[in-house]
Amino acid sequence: MKGVILAGGLGSLLLPLTKVTNKHLLPVYDRPMIYYPIQCLVNAGIEDILLVTGGSSAGDFLRLLENGEDFGLARLSYAYQRGEGGIAAALALAENFAQGEKICIVLGDNIIEGSIKKAVQDFEKQERGAKILLKRVEDPERFGVATLEGDKVRKIVEKPSQPESDLAVIGIYMYDSMVFEVINGLEPSERGELEITDVNNAYIEKGVMSSEVLDGWWTDAGTFESLLYASQLVAKGGANKV
Ligand code: DAU
Repeated sequence: MKGVILAGGLGSLLLPLTKVTNKHLLPVYDRPMIYYPIQCLVNAGIEDILLVTGGSSAGDFLRLLENGEDFGLARLSYAYQRGEGGIAAALALAENFAQGEKICIVLGDNIIEGSIKKAVQDFEKQERGAKILLKRVEDPERFGVATLEGDKVRKIVEKPSQPESDLAVIGIYMYDSMVFEVINGLEPSERGELEITDVNNAYIEKGVMSSEVLDGWWTDAGTFESLLYASQLVAKGGANKV
C-alpha cells in the first residue's frame, strides 16, 4: 500500500501563526507537526509516501524533509495543491502516484498515540472499497460524525450541529483505486470544498466501507486549543516519533 499525507490548506484557524508559514511546519512539542503523520505511515510499514502541500512555504517542506532520511526512507514524493479546494481536491493530486494501488491517507494535522499497522493489514486483505478509523470524542460537532447500524457505518455527517453519535471520523482513510473516480463525480460543498466526507459516503452507499475504532489517543492540531493539547499529549510520550 502507498501512503499520502495531505498538508495543504491555509491553516486560517491558526492565524497569525500561519501568516508566514504552513500549519504543518509549526511545532508540536519537539517536532514539526508534519513529522507525526509521516512516522505514523512508516510505523505501519508504508514507505512509498507522497506529501501534498501548497501555499508560499511549500519549498520549506523539501528543505526540512529532504528525501525522508530522518524516517529511514529512501525517497519522498511531493505534489503541489493550488488554492484550498478541500481535502478531496488535495487527494485528487495523488492519482498518478497511486498507479492503481490501494492508498492510506493521513491528514497532516492528525496525531495518534498508537499504530495503524493492524488496520492497514486488514485493509490489504479487504477485496475492495474503503476503510475509516473512528474515535469516541467529547466534541463530535468539530468533526465528521459516523452513525453506526450494528458494526456497519450507515452515514457520516460533516460537523453536525446535533451529532447523532460521539464517534468522530479521524483523518486517516484507506481507499482502493476507485477513489479518484468518486472524487471526479463530487460537487463542492457549501464551504466551496470537495469534502472527504462525501467521498466516504459514496463508499458507504456502495456497501464497501469498513471501519475500526482506533486504540490510544488521537487529536488534530488545527486550532489553538488542539495544538496545545497535541503538544501536551506528545510531551507525555507515546506518539509516533522518529
Ligand atoms: O481531523 C479529522 C477531521 O478532518 C474529520 O473528522 C473531518 O471529517 C474532515 O473534514 C477534516 O475536518 P477539518 O475541518 O478539521 O479539516 P481541515 O480543513 O482542517 O483540513 C485538515 C487537513 O487536510 C489539513 O491539515 C491539511 C489538509 N488539507 C485541507 C484542505 C482544506 C489539504 O491538504 N488541502 C485542503 O484544501
